[in-house]
Amino acid sequence: MNILLLGSGGREHALAWKIAASPHCSGLWIAPGNPGTAQLGTNLPLGVNDFPALRQACIEQQIDMVVVGPEDPLVNGIYDFFKADEATSHIIVVGPSRAAAQLEGSKFFSKQFMHRHGIPTASYASFTAENYEEGRKYISNHPLPVVIKADGLAAGKGVVVAATHEEALRAYEQMIKEEQFGAAGNTVVVESFLTGIEVSVFVLTDGESYQIIGHAKDYKRVGEGDTGPNTGGMGCISPVPFVDDAFMQKVTERIIEPTIAGIRAEELVYKGFIFFGLMNVGGEPWVIEYNCRMGDPETEIVMPLLQTDLVALLAAMDNGTLGDANISFYDKKGATIVAVSEGYPGNYPKNRVITGLDTIAAGGDTLVFQAGTTNKGEAIVTSGGRVLAVTAFGDTLTSAVQHARTTLDRIHFEGMYFRSDIGYEFPDQK
Ligand code: AMP
Ligand code: GLY
Repeated sequence: MNILLLGSGGREHALAWKIAASPHCSGLWIAPGNPGTAQLGTNLPLGVNDFPALRQACIEQQIDMVVVGPEDPLVNGIYDFFKADEATSHIIVVGPSRAAAQLEGSKFFSKQFMHRHGIPTASYASFTAENYEEGRKYISNHPLPVVIKADGLAAGKGVVVAATHEEALRAYEQMIKEEQFGAAGNTVVVESFLTGIEVSVFVLTDGESYQIIGHAKDYKRVGEGDTGPNTGGMGCISPVPFVDDAFMQKVTERIIEPTIAGIRAEELVYKGFIFFGLMNVGGEPWVIEYNCRMGDPETEIVMPLLQTDLVALLAAMDNGTLGDANISFYDKKGATIVAVSEGYPGNYPKNRVITGLDTIAAGGDTLVFQAGTTNKGEAIVTSGGRVLAVTAFGDTLTSAVQHARTTLDRIHFEGMYFRSDIGYEFPDQK
């Protein structure tokens, strides 16, 4: 199969690595990709939202399958664009239709969906400019902390967990009145705060059946001990010690199955990944959010732990045999540590030369996935906040983290920073 993968981050490098390892993959293209994906396939300098150019590339390269990494092309309707065109309608597009991608693209839509299908999630109300004052009253009377969310995509910045009513009202005003996130903040969801530990569960579905392909715990805060501002993710671990059979059974019965049943009942066309962002509240799983794509950096650990051939699974998703697939996982503990540019998630410098990447053996037991990197002459230089993700394994979580750190010690760029404490709450888990 000829496969085109969309995106350019660590998630896409990990997906490219898994896809390229499949005997079913005969050619791999990545748009736009990064220097890491260039080692596994051919990068194409095309934007993920440039649908006409992607269509043309698919025709030229005789692409059989498009795997969509990030959410924006899905929310913008790439699935529908390819399916509506005779020249591309035969291509398998891994990702939901525009309507189904609203599960991520509109927080109001996803809250209503969960409500309709009895899926546990924090209680909420939604407001717009029309009932702005009503919203102010609702927020002022809401127990603290209170969560204020812009309805639409806001590049991961549209959620404020407010400790005071003043902070909550300010965020609300910025979203609706000052259009801080443009149209994404025209509707605001006000939500109760759930106390617990977050975990991400990943499912592949064809809209009828599904398979769980992995789970991970992401470390979102920039500082050690979970301090400082939120980031896109500073690292992750998998498996997560508290995600035992009993917990996964609750997730399956209360969340995954009602979600798939809801997708079917509402006739949403969904053939792709679902990322369930969950909160473990005293042993009970609640949904924080749906994403219609894989997570980053979670993909960097979920793909290496998945033993099953991904391309075969994606083909099964397309031909109606996903429910019969056998999924297996490697029996080891994994940790991913993300190396970021100094200053991230605020402003950070770019163009810093990265050294040491060539000292890490391909096919070795640690994996380096590139994220915010680019080529400059012969060198690979930094081009983003999250620069690379190192994934390593061990018999214990502690040894996995240690291996990742040993690898990071061999990589250098000026101002490189990473969290040394990934997995800190679970010392020496066997
Ligand atoms: P979201 O974009 O919905 O994932 O929200 C970003 C982050 O805000 C989540 O990963 C959580 O850490 C936090 N968050 C969102 N909603 C809630 C909630 N209802 N209770 C507690 N934390 C939340
Ligand atoms: N790591 C969280 C995300 O991908 O949204």
